[in-house]
Amino acid sequence: MKEIQLEFKIKIYQSLEELPLSSQNLILKAREAAQRAYAPYSGYRVGAAVLLGNGEVVTGNNQENAAYPSGLCAERTAMFYASSRFPGETMCSIAVSTISNSALSGKFAKPCGSCRQVIAEYEDLSGIPIVIILDGSSAITVVNGIDTLLPFRFKKEDMGK
Ligand code: THU
Repeated sequence: MKEIQLEFKIKIYQSLEELPLSSQNLILKAREAAQRAYAPYSGYRVGAAVLLGNGEVVTGNNQENAAYPSGLCAERTAMFYASSRFPGETMCSIAVSTISNSALSGKFAKPCGSCRQVIAEYEDLSGIPIVIILDGSSAITVVNGIDTLLPFRFKKEDMGK
């Protein structure tokens, strides 16, 4: 038996102004998208903004439904829309913001497992790590690539594809 320890790096920014301008812009777009979320059941509004290789920014937000499982998270709404508008275009980064109790959430946004799996698919398609920007009112956390959020993920290579 051997035991190995894995490490990962995250960057924590104390304020929006510390980030590069393109990331600041993406976060502001994600915050705006969160305002437009349709989340009458949870009251938890999430916005996502995806920066594409062609410079386009595509946003999405969570869309809930009376039949709860029929709703969709902000990250997947944004990424599916980005892929449907610009098929095959590189996804460079995604910013995620959340609003609870009418205020920007203090804790950093944490994409759910299904959204992580979808980010992973587009990262594989893009061929470069997607910069994932997790917004919060007291700090902004940035990770470079999905492996940090979803280690040992299932890939199409696992099926011999
Ligand atoms: N939600 C997202 O939009 N993204 C996530 O990564 C976590 C959860 C949404 C789904 C649902 O509308 C609400 O937040 C509560 O789970």
